Amino acid sequence: MKLTATSVSRAALVTALVATTAGAVVLSATSASAATTLGASAAQTGRYFGTAVAAGRLGDSTYVGILNREFDMVTAENEMKIDATEPNQNQFSYGNADRIVNLARSQGKRVRGHTLAWHSQQPAWMQRLEGSALRSAMLNHVTKVAQYYAGKIYAWDVVNEAFEDGSSGARRNSNLQRTGNDWIEAAFRAARAADPTAKLCYNDYNTDDWTHAKTQAVYRMVQDFKTRGVPIDCVGLQSHFNAQSPVPSNYQTTLQNFANLGVDVQITELDIEGSGTTQAANYERVTKACLAVTRCTGITVWGIRDTDSWRSYGTPLLFDGSGNKKPAYTAVLNALNAAPPSSTTTTTTTTTTTTTTTTTTTTTTTPPPSGCTATVSVLDQWNTGFVATIKVTAGSAAVNGWSASVALPSGVTVVNSWNSGRSGNSGTVTFTNVAYNGALPAGGSTEFGFQADGNAGALSPTCSAR
Ligand code: G3I
Repeated sequence: MKLTATSVSRAALVTALVATTAGAVVLSATSASAATTLGASAAQTGRYFGTAVAAGRLGDSTYVGILNREFDMVTAENEMKIDATEPNQNQFSYGNADRIVNLARSQGKRVRGHTLAWHSQQPAWMQRLEGSALRSAMLNHVTKVAQYYAGKIYAWDVVNEAFEDGSSGARRNSNLQRTGNDWIEAAFRAARAADPTAKLCYNDYNTDDWTHAKTQAVYRMVQDFKTRGVPIDCVGLQSHFNAQSPVPSNYQTTLQNFANLGVDVQITELDIEGSGTTQAANYERVTKACLAVTRCTGITVWGIRDTDSWRSYGTPLLFDGSGNKKPAYTAVLNALNAAPPSSTTTTTTTTTTTTTTTTTTTTTTTPPPSGCTATVSVLDQWNTGFVATIKVTAGSAAVNGWSASVALPSGVTVVNSWNSGRSGNSGTVTFTNVAYNGALPAGGSTEFGFQADGNAGALSPTCSAR
């Protein structure tokens, strides 16, 4: 029986293997290719899994241990806000933000920038400004901060929370809004000019229910921006849920409808108050909704442990105060691992000043009668790095162990890998099975992944079996 990785889903592949290997090793649905951390399992679907990080907690080894292990995207919880980065007008302060950005990047994680223009957490000097003085100060802030971090930010929340709650669908009355209705697009244009490589997002809360006036108002603004060529690449749904504001039944519809405007959708500040199986089921629903929408590119939870949360009383996160995984964690991980691996897609984003191309390529070859083959998928390529997975497939005989080697282009350095052992991080790098994924039945496969700095170019891995 010949199976090709691109012709069947992982679940179907596993079903077929179970049916044809009676009496032999049975590959269960998740054992061979299930990743064991949130970031790695999200990466297998071409997505990221992130968290908000507070600089004040970076001395806490439990906190940092979970951060380094589980997440591949980081948002500064408060440290990139206006009061933190420009405490006095035209005097910029990046100390705490840099600690977070540098830690993230040194661990091969990417960074979401939060946030450049917001009515809240403005420094006192900005709170006092109005009119043209405020407009200039806001644009100066957007420009200087985006320039400072240019090339280091995956996506910026350029504007945060600019719409009213309730049924009006109106803009929030703030000092920024009073500078003129075009303040939001002015901020986006300034951000694009300052950092042409970052995705530019509009970010808000209470925009999860498709029927709500606020959701509709944000939708119409994004639609208008796309029609008029205002540079916007993504919409962030904060997604803070509790009993008063539950996960809406139409959440996936909301994600899909925004995506249909031609923007990415990101879940940017997820937390769900509750506990046990109810909380787990809600997290699972949110995760599955994102997985069902091709342009839902990632999920960020708003903190690591319940005790790190801005609303710790609601125990809204994936780890308890001691750093133990909660049922909600397992529900999210299982949902991510049950999703089909990312398929062949090509997305091109063109901006006014630069072109960024993200291409996911999957090549599949027929396994030889014995031994194994290795096929690579570049899931995401950004300006300074990429994420790839390699699928190892046994030939017509079972294997008891494997090694996959790949010659990396000059300048490429592996910064992180999962589901395999690894020797070296540049030149020809060899990945070897770990205890749980070495044994493959005839035709069976497993997948591991890595993240690297540099440009993937054309990768062509080789495989040898034991
Ligand atoms: O660091 C000071 C500390 O020195 C002082 O003793 C203490 C006394 O109040 O305040 C501390 O600062 C607090 C800061 O969090 C750090 O803990 C601020 O008062 C407090 O206002 C601030 O709250 C943050 C909140 O945004 C402010 O709007 C939360 O941490 C942060 O999680 C929250 O994040 C927002 C997103 O940016 C936007 N969406 C909603 C989300 C939740 O509110």
